[in-house]
Amino acid sequence: MAQAAFHFPRGFLWGTATASHQVEGSNTNNNWWAWENEPGRILNGQKAGLACDWWSGRWREDFDRAADAGQNAHRMSIEWSRIQPRPGIWDESALDRYRDIVRGMVERGMTPLITLHHFSDPLWLVEQGGWENEAVAERFETYARKVVEALKEYVTLWATINEPNVYAVMGYIVGNFPPGKTSINAGLNVMTNMVLAHARAYRAIHAIQPQARVGLALNVTPMIPAKSWSPLDRVAVSVLRRVYNEFFPAALSAGKLRYPTHTRRIPEAKNTQDYFGMNYYTRFACAVDLRMPRQKFIRYAPENCDEISETGFIGNDPAGFYAALEWAKSFGLPIIVTENGVEDSNDNLRPRYLVQHIHQLWRAVNIGIPIKGYFHWTLVDNFEWERGWSQRFGLWELDVETQARRKRPSADLYAEICQENGLSSEMVARYTPQLFEQIFPN
Ligand code: BGC
Repeated sequence: MAQAAFHFPRGFLWGTATASHQVEGSNTNNNWWAWENEPGRILNGQKAGLACDWWSGRWREDFDRAADAGQNAHRMSIEWSRIQPRPGIWDESALDRYRDIVRGMVERGMTPLITLHHFSDPLWLVEQGGWENEAVAERFETYARKVVEALKEYVTLWATINEPNVYAVMGYIVGNFPPGKTSINAGLNVMTNMVLAHARAYRAIHAIQPQARVGLALNVTPMIPAKSWSPLDRVAVSVLRRVYNEFFPAALSAGKLRYPTHTRRIPEAKNTQDYFGMNYYTRFACAVDLRMPRQKFIRYAPENCDEISETGFIGNDPAGFYAALEWAKSFGLPIIVTENGVEDSNDNLRPRYLVQHIHQLWRAVNIGIPIKGYFHWTLVDNFEWERGWSQRFGLWELDVETQARRKRPSADLYAEICQENGLSSEMVARYTPQLFEQIFPN
C-alpha cells in the first residue's frame, strides 16, 4: 500500500482542553457547586465532587499522559472563586498553586492556553447580580489582571471567556445552567456584559503583556433549517445564527452589538481579538416547534449526519466543521480550534470522529485558512455540567470512584497524529479502515 500523509504547518499546536470546575474537584465556592446541591438540577443528581482530582495534584499524572502522547499544548481554565474567594480578598496560595500547575505544563513541553472564565462564577459574584449586573465587567478586569500578573512568566496565550453564547443561552434563556433563568432579555443582557468584560480584559492583558495573544472560545454551531421548504424554520435559523454564532465575533471585530431587532455600536469592543477561538462539536438542524416552550419553541438537534453520539448530543458532521472554519476565516484572524470532540464511553465512534475532523481541519489549512492549533475535548473523562458524568469525552477513561485512568484507543490515535504533525494513510488504515477509501481515494 502506498503511503501518504496530510501534514500540518511546523509549530502547529496539538493539545487537549479542560476546565477548572470539570477537573479540579472540591470547588465549593462557586455557582455550580450550589446548583449541584439543588435537587433535580443535574442528571441523576450527580456532582462534580473530586472530579479528576487535579487540585490535590493529579494534574501531574495527567500532564505526563498528555506530554507522553505527543501533545505540545494544553488549554485549561482558572477558577475565579479560588483566586478571589470573597470581594476584595485574594488567595495568594491559590495563585501559587496555579503557577505550579502552569509551570508543570511548560516543563513538560506544552504551551499553555489559559481561559479566565469557563462557566463557573464565585458565589459572591452571583450575590451581586452576576453577569446581569454591568459592574461585572470591571470585576472581571480586576480578576484578569491578578491572574495575568501571576502567570505572565509562563503564558502569552489567553482566552478571556469560554463559550459566552452557551453560558448566556443555557443559564438565562433555556435555564439548564445556573441561575436557571428563562428570559431572552436577560440572556441578551448577559451577552452584552460579556462583550464589555472581554473588551476590558483584552486591554488590561495587553497593558501588562504587550506580546499577549488574547481571544475567547466561541461555540460555533452551524445551523440549517430542519425543513428547507419551511419559511418559519428558515427565519428561525437566520435569527439563531445571528444571535448564537455571529453576535460575539461581530462585536469583537466591527464593534457592533447585533441584537435580533436592532444594532448598537460598541466602539470599545472593536478589534479586541488576536485570534478566533472556535469550539466546534456538531451542526444542528433547527425547526420551529410549538411543543417546546422551554426552548423558546425551537427544536435543535444533530440531523442528517451518518452517526450520532451515544446520548444523541453530537452528530459526526465533519462537513459542518469545515463550513465553520470557512465562515470563521471571514473575520481575518488566525484561528485556534479551542475544543472539538465527542462523548463516547466505548470509543466506538471517536476514532472516526477524530480522523474525519482532522482531515477537514487539514483541508481547511490547505486552502489557506490560517489555523494555528487544535485542542481535543478532552484529556480524561470529566464532569459534564447538567449532564453530570453521563457523557464521556476523555481520551482516557476515568473511574470516578477510584480515580483510576484507562487509555482508550483514540488516545493512541491522537498521539500518533500529534507526533506525526499530521494524519497518515497508515493511521487511517489501522484505526479506521472503513474510512480509508473516503480519506485516501485512489
Ligand atoms: C464546553 C465544555 C463541555 C463540552 C462538552 C463545551 O460546550 O466548553 O465545558 O464539557 O462542550 O459538553
